[in-house]
Parts: sequence; structure tokens; C-alpha cells
Amino acid sequence: MHVDTLILGAGAAGLFAAAHCGGRTLIIDHAKAPGEKIRIAGGGRCNFTNLHAAPENFLSANPHFCKSALSRYTQWDFIDLVGRHRIPWHEKTLGQLFCDNSSKDIIEMLLTEAQDADLRLRTKASQIEKTPEGFRAHLDPGGPVTARHLIVATGGKSIPKMGATGFAYDIAQQFGHQLTETRPALVPLTFGDQMKARFAGLSGLATSARVTCNGTAFDEGLLFTHRGLSGPAILQISSYWREGDQIAVTLAPDTDIQGTLKTRRQSHGRTSLSVALAEILPKRLAEDAVARADLTGNLADQSDAKLAVLADAIRDWQVTPTGSEGYRTAEVTLGGIATDDLDARTMESRLVPGLFFIGEAVDVTGWLGGYNFQWAWSSGWAAGAEIAQRLR
Ligand code: FDA
Repeated sequence: MHVDTLILGAGAAGLFAAAHCGGRTLIIDHAKAPGEKIRIAGGGRCNFTNLHAAPENFLSANPHFCKSALSRYTQWDFIDLVGRHRIPWHEKTLGQLFCDNSSKDIIEMLLTEAQDADLRLRTKASQIEKTPEGFRAHLDPGGPVTARHLIVATGGKSIPKMGATGFAYDIAQQFGHQLTETRPALVPLTFGDQMKARFAGLSGLATSARVTCNGTAFDEGLLFTHRGLSGPAILQISSYWREGDQIAVTLAPDTDIQGTLKTRRQSHGRTSLSVALAEILPKRLAEDAVARADLTGNLADQSDAKLAVLADAIRDWQVTPTGSEGYRTAEVTLGGIATDDLDARTMESRLVPGLFFIGEAVDVTGWLGGYNFQWAWSSGWAAGAEIAQRLR
């Protein structure tokens, strides 16, 4: 069997590339269904892009690498496509766009766009080799296949239970590409026994927080779990955190806690301190903060100094995670195939002409909020459009 383009991986990036490369395209995946991560993304409604997507929202050893692909196929291009397929969507928060109905709408759209490609599921590729005309691979089932172009879109290592493998990294290394360090990212953080016991007591509570690590801060929701800390603010900061680093947590970042309590003390001095604080923070968290500050009694019993100590403890809380929940729950893999030997415009290997790497496998990782899918669309389009032009 001979095709113009063989695509490994029918996830977000692979399907989108298949929709654009033209010619005879074969896309294979070892999973039993295409786009499985799209299906479960965003609680089943798939946060498919972000209105504010820009290079600043991506991490990479070379922060400039993503600029070309993101500017050639933008969030507006994808929103336009979604509109043409009459898929209803809404902005949830911070520019994050979700399907009104189901992620399946996006998968259906991708399959429709890629309908000229031959999609083979439950299929594995091995023995990938370069030939003078292109590439040869062995498919199981299917036997040998040759292709002029090879697009590697098998993603990163996150959620092995869903079929994630390090296959893209193996192929990259086989063809002489370097890898940057890979780590689980957009992942809940875990703590030692003492902190874990404290967080377990607060498990299930969600509150707004500013979370800062290594000079980067996110103002989003924070969630206490029986294992440690989670919620959007923590998932975001996990991409910037390294073992041993401290994280600064400011609870209720938009509230002047001391000022609010002082005002309340004037009008409602007989209100208990924890009840007053529960107007700012969730009740159990307010009680915990008051107990930790070793304070008791009513508002009227508290001096300005005591209120300042309490407010400082809430506004400047330093915690040191011991680890993360790992690839088991990480939404993405940070790092991956080094961009040094990839063409930023086309995603083609500079070492092996005709070989392309796209999506999460590449060392480009987005923030939480639809950025990672936008990278899958933009990088998939870059490779697909380049191949289509060559086939013309
Ligand atoms: P992706 O992982 O989508 O696809 C890779 C494909 O390759 C898979 O189909 C896999 O089966 C296949 N494959 C792997 N190894 C193979 C092998 N050896 N042989 C054959 N096939 C192989 N992002 C976002 O922007 N908005 C969101 O709402 C979410 N939500 C979200 C929730 C959860 C729970 C997770 C785990 C992740 C997200 N993400 C997200 C991240 C997003 O899903 C991710 O960045 C993209 O799916 C990456 O697209 P790729 O196509 O690169 O990989």
C-alpha cells in the first residue's frame, strides 16, 4: 500500500492535519475511537480554544517557536470553522470557549473535515524507516505501508489509561531529534502527611486564589482535595513548579480582609471572628484560618494587630508541594520533542525531509483554558497545509 501521507495518531492534531493535507492520506490510531481526549475534555464539553490565545500562553524552551503556527491558523479561524458546522458554543470564563452540547460535536466536525482520509483504528505502527522515496512502516493489522510524508501526532504521556504512549519521542530520537525534559503538567499537586491531613479536612472546598511560583501568578479557582491542592489556579501553576519550590497562595485576592473585618467590627462587634471571616471565605476554611492564627472570640475582642496577623496569614500562605499526581491525571505533558530541529512554519523536521511532528508531542505546552487544543489545530494545520501545497 502506498499513500501520500501517513499520520500516526487520530487525536486533535492528527485529525486536523488529515483534514488539510489532501492527496491520499492514511491516519492510524491504536485506540478504538478517534479523538478520545477531545471527548472527555472540558467535562465532556471540550474547551476547544481560547479567545485570547497568544504565544505568551505557551511554555517551550524556545518561546518564539509557536508564533508562526499560531498566527497562520488562529483561534478565529477555528471559531469560524465551528460556526460553519453550526456547532453552538459559549464563553465560560477568561476567553475559554466550550461546546453548548457535547465534545462529540467537535469530533464529528473533525471527522467530516477529514472524510477523504482513510482512518484505521485499533492499528499499531512499528518498524518505521526512511526510504529514498519517503517512509516505510509496518501496520498491525495491515502489513507494510509506504508514504511520501509522515506526520507524527501521537501526543504526550498524559493519561496512559487512555492510550497515551511515548511513541512520538521514540520516533523523534530514532531520526536524531533531541528531547527536552518531559513532566506532567496541568496536574494537581500533592503534599506531605501533615499538610495532607490539613487539606483532607478542607476537602471539597473551592475558593478564589492568587497562586504564585517562580515569578508567575494565576488568579483562578483553588480546590482542596483529600490528596492536596487542585483547581484551575493549581493546575496552571503546576507547569511552573519544580520539586522543592514553594508556592505562595493568596486566598480571596480581591478582598481587603483586614479592612473588611475592621468595618464589620464597628457595626457588628459581637459577631464571632470565624462567622465574620466566613463572609469572605468558605465557612470551614474561615474556621481553619482563625484556629491556625490561634484566635478566639468575637470581632470586638480582636485588636487591629490581631486582625492584621490573620489577614496576612490568609494573604500570604506559603506551601511546599512534595509532588504531583503525575501522568495519571495530568492534562498535558510539558516538554517533548525539542523545537531546535523543527521548522516553525511547517513543523517539518530539519533533519529528515518529509517528517513532521505536531501537537502535544512537541515541546510547546499551553496554559489551561483551550490553549492546548489551539496548538493542536495550529500545528496540525501548518503541517497539513504544507503537504497540500507540495502535492499540488
Ligand atoms: P492526543 O493525545 O489528542 O492524540 C494522540 C493520539 O495518538 C491518541 O488518539 C492516541 O490513542 C494515539 N496514540 C498514542 N500512541 C500511539 C501509538 N503508539 N500508536 C498509535 N496511536 C497512538 N486541552 C484543551 O485545550 N482544552 C480542554 O478542555 C482540555 N481538556 C483536557 C482534559 C483531559 C482530561 C486531558 C487529559 C487533556 C485535556 N486537554 C485539553 C489537553 C488536550 O486534550 C491535548 O493537549 C490534545 O488532545 C493534544 O492533541 P494531540 O493530537 O497532540 O494528542
